[in-house]
Amino acid sequence: MKKMLIMGPPGAGKGTQAEYIVKYYNIPHISTGDMFRAAIANKTEVGLLAKKYIDAGNLVPDEVTVGIVKERLANPDCKNGFLLDGFPRDLKQAEMFAVMLKELGIDLDLVINIHVDNEKLINRIIGRRICPECGRTFHIKYNKPLKDGICDDCGSSLIQRKDDNVETVSNRLDVYQSKTEPLINYYKDLVVTFDGDRDVDVIFNDIKKVIGDK
Ligand code: AP5
Ligand code: MG
Repeated sequence: MKKMLIMGPPGAGKGTQAEYIVKYYNIPHISTGDMFRAAIANKTEVGLLAKKYIDAGNLVPDEVTVGIVKERLANPDCKNGFLLDGFPRDLKQAEMFAVMLKELGIDLDLVINIHVDNEKLINRIIGRRICPECGRTFHIKYNKPLKDGICDDCGSSLIQRKDDNVETVSNRLDVYQSKTEPLINYYKDLVVTFDGDRDVDVIFNDIKKVIGDK
């Protein structure tokens, strides 16, 4: 039961839970947002194209997004499982994803949906800090690094994502509500919803109970 999606609004804790899940189950974490941010940092063609959409909190066009996911899922390391984070993001992507899964001969097992109320999401996003080297996520209040501004794992200086500002956040929440939230119903037979307004460890324990043994 390890071919999985993780869904939820911006700041719900998808990336945070994903870090635990992929480590525990030893499966790849495929985050379209992380892939785009890496492409932007490396100034690749995809990165240059995606940047203006991400900075504004809008969705990157499907022809770019779907292609990078398909290429990644075809990699042999996805054979025994994967956790897709941030894809699909609207009904059209979900339909294209269904075709892709069929072509690759993959059956999806589970859709993990993390629910957090809107007013809590803004504080989480504004206080988030990430490690540009190893990708670990922190929060200045809720998930503090041992030393302010420094990654616990690799010692790099933490940074703030460019789309983590008050102006962009409200558009990201609107885009989520109008485009992504309807996917909870689309995947209703596979969805399990978790209350994301609890301690990170408590949420992870509940997720583990649903996914099952390693
Ligand atoms: P993406 O990177 O997917 O961002 P997002 O969906 O906005 O979600 P976030 O990464 O902001 O939140 P998260 O749920 O991962 O929360 P986190 O664990 O970090 O996408 C970014 C952009 O890329 C999009 O806007 C779009 O432009 C583009 N894009 C990506 N995919 C695309 C696609 N498929 N199609 C088109 N465009 C696409 O946690 C947030 C904070 O809260 C952290 O500081 C964390 O420490 C803290 N926290 C986590 N859990 C808890 C807890 N339980 N209690 C207290 N604090 C917590
Ligand atoms: Mg994330």
